[in-house]
Amino acid sequence: MQTTGRSSEGQFVVAPAAVAIQDDLIGREDFDAIRALMHRIAGIKLSDSKRDLVSGRLRRRLGVLGLENFSQYRLLVDSPAGDDERLQMINALTTNLTSFFREAHHFVALAELLDRMLATAEQRRLRIWSAACSSGEEPYSIAMVVHGALQKAGAMKRGWDARILATDIDSNMVDLAAAGSYQAERADAIPPQFERLVRRRLDGLVEMKQALRDLIAFKRLNLQDKWPMQGRFDVIFCRNVVIYFDKPTQRQLFDRLADLLQPDGWLFIGHSESLLGVSDRFESQGRTIYRKIR
Ligand SMILES: C[S@@+](CC[C@H](N)C(=O)[O-])C[C@H]1O[C@@H](n2cnc3c(N)ncnc32)[C@H](O)[C@@H]1O
Repeated sequence: MQTTGRSSEGQFVVAPAAVAIQDDLIGREDFDAIRALMHRIAGIKLSDSKRDLVSGRLRRRLGVLGLENFSQYRLLVDSPAGDDERLQMINALTTNLTSFFREAHHFVALAELLDRMLATAEQRRLRIWSAACSSGEEPYSIAMVVHGALQKAGAMKRGWDARILATDIDSNMVDLAAAGSYQAERADAIPPQFERLVRRRLDGLVEMKQALRDLIAFKRLNLQDKWPMQGRFDVIFCRNVVIYFDKPTQRQLFDRLADLLQPDGWLFIGHSESLLGVSDRFESQGRTIYRKIR
């Protein structure tokens, strides 16, 4: 589409053939509609301070779709024809910050927990869920600890069956996680004892080895939807995601997580998150580490 207007010198000019996006900042009504939708679908609350960020990220979507303004975009994502774009909107508006061995004390606690389990049970099924796995650094870090603990105890030969489920609402992140290769700088946080589980390529990428991939299943999953999992988990990592949810959404989520944990199951949450006033079904075991009690 071409648009015309007056230049500062008063001449008529023709805008480039590409669609000109009219406003930089999303209008109040459109912003309110988009954030209501994000809350309804994903549980994510977007405060007023996020208006700039939402404008920036959705402007790219407008460009891809050839739309002229945020009102057209809002009409699309609010309509039945907007199914695919609603997924793209969620991908665009999630915050995916993560790293290998983030909150390192969690991985020390996990290793100790696994050692205790391995010392007391001859044969066991071990299930761990990374419930907002982003680009995969969290589940691969878990897999390294699990692999190390099982190998040390000779548990693979003893028939231990360990599986990690890694899920995220953002399909782009799930694809990246499943691909399992990272820039070398990102992999610097991997402790030296796990170096044997990665392959450093000449092009600078660091690949997760098959032994780790074999332990993990990656899937797209919205924590607000019905969960397809049947069996219970021994450990759940649900870190740095409920900060984006309001309290009622958090309460409901932790209740569902407690239901899905084994009696005595363990829950790891993010550094700025807390269960205080949110759930009474867990007992603190140290900084941001909980055990299910009911
Ligand atoms: C900041 S990252 C945290 C990643 C990792 N757990 C960590 O602590 O490093 C938050 C992740 O939560 C995901 N997320 C947000 N809302 C979600 C929802 N309703 N269901 C599932 N994942 C969600 C985002 O896509 C994002 O990848």
